[in-house]
Amino acid sequence: MRRLFVAGNWKMNTTAAVGSALASALAVEVSKSQPAVDVAVCPPSPYLSTIKAVLGTSPIYLGAQNAYFAAPGAFTGEVGLDMLVDVGCQCVILGHSERRAIFGETDELINKKVAATLQKELGVILCIGELLADRQGNKTEAVLETQLTGGLAGIDAAAMKHIVLAYEPVWAIGTGVTATPQQAQDTHKFIRNWLEKRYNAEVAAATRIQYGGSVTPETAAELLSQPDVDGALVGGASLKADKFIPIIQAAAAVKKSA
Ligand code: 13P
Repeated sequence: MRRLFVAGNWKMNTTAAVGSALASALAVEVSKSQPAVDVAVCPPSPYLSTIKAVLGTSPIYLGAQNAYFAAPGAFTGEVGLDMLVDVGCQCVILGHSERRAIFGETDELINKKVAATLQKELGVILCIGELLADRQGNKTEAVLETQLTGGLAGIDAAAMKHIVLAYEPVWAIGTGVTATPQQAQDTHKFIRNWLEKRYNAEVAAATRIQYGGSVTPETAAELLSQPDVDGALVGGASLKADKFIPIIQAAAAVKKSA
């Protein structure tokens, strides 16, 4: 059985004070209920240390939203993996569609980041997802296959233990248009089948695949109940404790057969 994993991607939002209040509310809730799900928050990098301190001994993981693959050196403006380890991160989001679309990240660059992140023994949340035009043109599977093949090039089966995939259809991100539970399930199943072909049945069965794209307290339960949906990567709704906590609770309430 895969343990559900709900992560909040705060993107370029919050202040130290707002993020601290949010993290504090989540820490109280998650520590109290000890939910049977994994929970992570991914604040902007200037606040990682602050939020780490607020999370304290709560079981909430700390994630970064990006990292550069190179060793410390002359890379003005970048954040290195050693720094993320130093401030207590446990995982890194890589390949988010905003990094791809706005900052021109290619599968090749993302792959270098994935490999370097694993070398530092940090977990990876690798995001993949198609544009609306891809879906309308029946190209979803081809796009995902390219992103998976490129992003995971050279990553062996043993390393897949440290990778979570996040399927985020670009047309659903920040739009209020959530993929239907059936669309999410069908696409997650496609990704799992790809994992079986590329690796083996064990990797396919063990790898967690989160869904991301306008997840709300209203849509979470049905999405998370799909057999191949193993959690959520939440943007907007992760910025408010009264929206993110019900999503965590919905995940904790899901019952799936093995
Ligand atoms: P929204 O939940 O705001 O649609 O964002 C999803 C996302 O991009 C998470 O990484």
